[in-house]
Amino acid sequence: MSAGERTIQKVRVELQERSYEIIIGSGILANIGEKLLRFSFSPKIAVISNPTVFNLYGDAVIASLKNAGFDCLHILIPDGEEYKNYNQAYQILTELLKNRLDRNSCLIALGGGVIGDITGFVASIYMRGIHFVQVPTTLLAHVDSSVGGKTGVNHELGKNMIGTFYQPRLVWIDIDTLKTLPKRELLCGIAEIIKYGVIWDKDLFDFMESEKDDILGLNKNALSFIIKRSCEIKAEVVSKDERESGLRAILNYGHTIGHAIETETAYRKFLHGEAVAVGMHFEAKIAELAGFIDNKQVIRIKTVIDSYGLPSELPMDLDSNKLVSHMQLDKKVVAGEMKFILPEGIGKVKIQKGINSEYIKKVLTQ
Ligand code: NAD
Ligand code: GLY
Repeated sequence: MSAGERTIQKVRVELQERSYEIIIGSGILANIGEKLLRFSFSPKIAVISNPTVFNLYGDAVIASLKNAGFDCLHILIPDGEEYKNYNQAYQILTELLKNRLDRNSCLIALGGGVIGDITGFVASIYMRGIHFVQVPTTLLAHVDSSVGGKTGVNHELGKNMIGTFYQPRLVWIDIDTLKTLPKRELLCGIAEIIKYGVIWDKDLFDFMESEKDDILGLNKNALSFIIKRSCEIKAEVVSKDERESGLRAILNYGHTIGHAIETETAYRKFLHGEAVAVGMHFEAKIAELAGFIDNKQVIRIKTVIDSYGLPSELPMDLDSNKLVSHMQLDKKVVAGEMKFILPEGIGKVKIQKGINSEYIKKVLTQ
């Protein structure tokens, strides 16, 4: 048994015939080829990545796939959210056709959420759907984007507006990839983990409060615990509501205000997790105004966000009227009704519709 295998943890996403495993371990990247032999994929396999991630981890993944007997090619797209677009997806499709990947071929998404989303999207439409495996390399991708089957690309008229629900066959998480991740990106994943604590699991929230130093110091036990717990929560929610007809919306806690902030600042000032951190604080304030939680709990949420060095306050120059207009145009608005995910305590949220926009403006300007 290798060093990596000793620390392996498993989470299962239960979705009938589309069920799959999430494997979490340290030093397991080079074991991916061997694992894929258990599936009966065609020998030709394509790794989709970007130059930043591929330069760090491409050799290990390609060598592992080749050692397992796969005929491996790699397709790189430029690094950045702006390249999660239809044009890049089309170029990947062209490469797959040129290289004659067949209906039983598999794509490997090696990278953060951008690579995972575009690869899943391409896999879902190439020859009406081929296999894909997520090998996420950011903390946000470990705990959120690689699990649950939301795939897609951005359109110039809106983020994530073109996409599919399409589940991977496997999620393969090597926590050692976090060693090279810039701190600001690491914190975006931390924001999503704090989210899981607020929406579902008080113990996870307590852990995020008490074990900050170990987490930021990339202690393996601490990381394995928070990643596994987050994946378990996401797996449970997705298993109950794959297509977001109800429960899955709770994963959007902090995101209604977060998305409005990202839109108003043209995606330049805040990374996604940072905007979500501000959103979680302000959505907690809305919950307080609605009488669902008391001020102590709002302060607790803000304090844990601040303790990691994530932002919790709105920039002074943001216009609350404009933020509310963005919220009203969000793709999650149905029949003109905004939906907020509001904490009822730490570890429990409710989905609240029909909140008056004046109410929201009041909280945003407090
Ligand atoms: P990202 O994919 O842009 O990665 C962030 C940066 O880190 C990039 O520059 C990347 O090259 C670099 N990087 C990745 N891994 C690295 C590593 N190990 N070492 C050094 N650098 C590394 O950003 P992200 O935060 O991972 O993902 C954001 C995307 O995920 C957005 O497009 C968002 O819409 C999407 N998303 C999707 C879901 C979903 O359910 N599908 C959920 C949340 C977010
Ligand atoms: N990131 C929210 C979801 O997957 O539903």
